[in-house]
Amino acid sequence: MGKRDKKPRHQQRRAAFHYTEEDDGDGDYEGHSASKLTVSEEEEEEEEEEEEEEEEAAEEEVADEYPSTDMPSKFLLYQQSVQSPKGDISYLQKFFLMYVGGRLPLHLQEDFCGTALLSAEWLRTDPRRTAVGLDLDPEALNWCMENNINKVGSDVYSRISLFHGNVLQPLEAKLIKSEAEEQMRNISLSENGDGLESDGLQSTLQESSSSSHDEKYLSNHPLPARDIVCAFNYSCCCLHQRAELVLYLKHALAVLSKKGGIFVMDLYGGTSSECKLRLQRRFANFTYVWEQAEFDIIERKTRISLHFHLKKQQKKIRHAFSYSWRLWSLPEIKDCLEEAGFKSVHFWLRKMQDSGEIRRTEGFGVGRDIKYEEVKHFQQHDSWNAYIVGVA
Ligand SMILES: C[S@@+](CC[C@H](N)C(=O)[O-])C[C@H]1O[C@@H](n2cnc3c(N)ncnc32)[C@H](O)[C@@H]1O
Repeated sequence: MGKRDKKPRHQQRRAAFHYTEEDDGDGDYEGHSASKLTVSEEEEEEEEEEEEEEEEAAEEEVADEYPSTDMPSKFLLYQQSVQSPKGDISYLQKFFLMYVGGRLPLHLQEDFCGTALLSAEWLRTDPRRTAVGLDLDPEALNWCMENNINKVGSDVYSRISLFHGNVLQPLEAKLIKSEAEEQMRNISLSENGDGLESDGLQSTLQESSSSSHDEKYLSNHPLPARDIVCAFNYSCCCLHQRAELVLYLKHALAVLSKKGGIFVMDLYGGTSSECKLRLQRRFANFTYVWEQAEFDIIERKTRISLHFHLKKQQKKIRHAFSYSWRLWSLPEIKDCLEEAGFKSVHFWLRKMQDSGEIRRTEGFGVGRDIKYEEVKHFQQHDSWNAYIVGVA
């Protein structure tokens, strides 16, 4: 039987790492929906892996025969399948108005920003807004400047500051400049007759540190105090030690406005988050796969890998992204936020769809109208997602 004729082998289920719904901006975002993700049954896993290897070999053959040059960027695929910045922003605004209020939040810092899609959306929707992004990955930051920020508008470069560095040493993070800015600078230097060639086209984006005379770091770059600092897509799980988490949260608190501000992060959990798991979701041109390795209950660590299977190109981008995560618990996060100096901590949770529910109700879509709610107690489920808000 050919691959196309195979019966679907997966149950539709929720996802831990998935944003699919766009929000209408009224604060009633449905959340990190995963209604269209599918989950492998445990007993089918081995068979499935074998099948996958066969499929992979077959697909590689086809791909070799018909090589395709127009491979989409892994960052684009990630943004399309994983992120939903409008929904996050809707909740950020709601939290700010609830716990701070009295003014509109205008200044955002997106830590662990990756391609800073959230910042780009933040800037796009109000010209008074500013954004700061910080990430360890220069490739993601460069991609962001060339593909997200340049689409926002002509004034955007004065409102965004992207920094390459570690959230644990934010003051040492270096300002990233756009290619457009670099070209302008090089051209004007050339015109001034200093003999420098304009080589902006050769480089992609450059850290300002590449030119010693205008090095800019987060420590010496003037920025407005932030109304909101966020760390999304479970990024705090990249920090493995408690001391690191507390240190990071202290840095986040330090940049928040003295007039009041919030730190917001997200987290996933549930019984299904502590075992091996493979989820997938089909899009028009590709399939997105979330692979969760074995879960170590002593260190609470797992490895998450994201793969993309491209239909048209008949290629796979395996391990497009791979993270070693410590899955923090909600009370651990609360303790760390309080230890870092936040005045209060609020949990907003929603239960995610599990496979049992889907079987009973015949189809996905169940739970789509469930919104995040502020809770003091929440019973364990197969899967849940949380926003955690620390108020400065
Ligand atoms: C799960 S991704 C999240 C990306 C983005 N925030 C999102 O919502 O999709 C985690 C990001 O954190 C970055 N990262 C991991 N450890 C970091 C650290 N110590 N300092 C700064 N960035 C870090 C990685 O480079 C990666 O871009």
